[in-house]
Amino acid sequence: MELDTYVRALPKAELHLHIEGTLEPELMFRLAARNGVALPWASVEETRAAYDFTDLQSFLDLYYAGAAALVHEHDFFDLAMAYFARAHADGVVHAELFFDPQTHTARGIAFDTVLSGLERACRDAHARYGIGSRLILCFLRHLSEEEGFAALAQAMPHLGRIHGVGLDSSEKGHPPSKFARLFARCRELGLHVVAHAGEEGPPAYIAEALDVLKAERIDHGVRAAEDPALMQRLAHTQVPLTVCPLSNVRLRVFPTLAQHNLKTLLDAGLKVTINSDDPAYFGGYVAKNYIDTAKALGLTKADLKRIARNSLEAAFVDDAARAPWL
Ligand code: HPA
Ligand code: ZN
Repeated sequence: MELDTYVRALPKAELHLHIEGTLEPELMFRLAARNGVALPWASVEETRAAYDFTDLQSFLDLYYAGAAALVHEHDFFDLAMAYFARAHADGVVHAELFFDPQTHTARGIAFDTVLSGLERACRDAHARYGIGSRLILCFLRHLSEEEGFAALAQAMPHLGRIHGVGLDSSEKGHPPSKFARLFARCRELGLHVVAHAGEEGPPAYIAEALDVLKAERIDHGVRAAEDPALMQRLAHTQVPLTVCPLSNVRLRVFPTLAQHNLKTLLDAGLKVTINSDDPAYFGGYVAKNYIDTAKALGLTKADLKRIARNSLEAAFVDDAARAPWL
């Protein structure tokens, strides 16, 4: 079977996906026009041409600018439905969506507007495509822990609709330990915990995410390869890594896909998954991440099957829900 067909037919979960990062320029411009929002670019083409990133921060600056087009509940609904349609076409049976409420509440958008639009899309996607989903609230790590607590306070009335918390945005200089108290409180509330670590930040941030935040999965985590003891720990504990190969190349974590360390991590016995991160900005949804990585690194079909199975095992669902996929 051809690789493309094989990959799309593999049941898989997407576990590292920022819903704001699925905002394609066409929808961005439609929403901006509908909402009377001014964008820093004149056209869809000019927007795409600006997606020439040098590092994480150069991406984040554009990503936050684009998110300004999202204003109403229906905008968040449209955004997430567009993602689910693509995910379904890629063989995604379950998706755990990160969302960044602080990006929106800072612009005067109500927390409930964001959550209601996303949640309605999750329900519709289940009805239309049979896709299961979870919502994971991400705290922006360039902001203070105090501001994180304020975001949690806004989320409190809605905790039944949120499955976990994560940590994203500018990594360097913002170690996981900065949010020790906030994540302890989230764990007390029964929320699942994940964190971006070891994308641009050092391996020590991965260890901190595990030891201090008690992260159940590490988002990215590719810099673990620099620390043999950490590699052994991750292999032994089987804490999943949500790796995003196309993102890593676009943000210059690796110079080329052929130089990505995903196969090294996999061969060392780590629980590696493949995800798209911010597919509208990084040139591909999850199936393209699988396919391009397989071609660049010589992954076998057995490797791809293992990776897809890892993603289903690493999802925040119970075994009864997982069983039909395995
Ligand atoms: N890293 C950190 N923060 C982010 C990312 C990422 O890859 N995408 C969206 N926010
Ligand atoms: Zn991410």
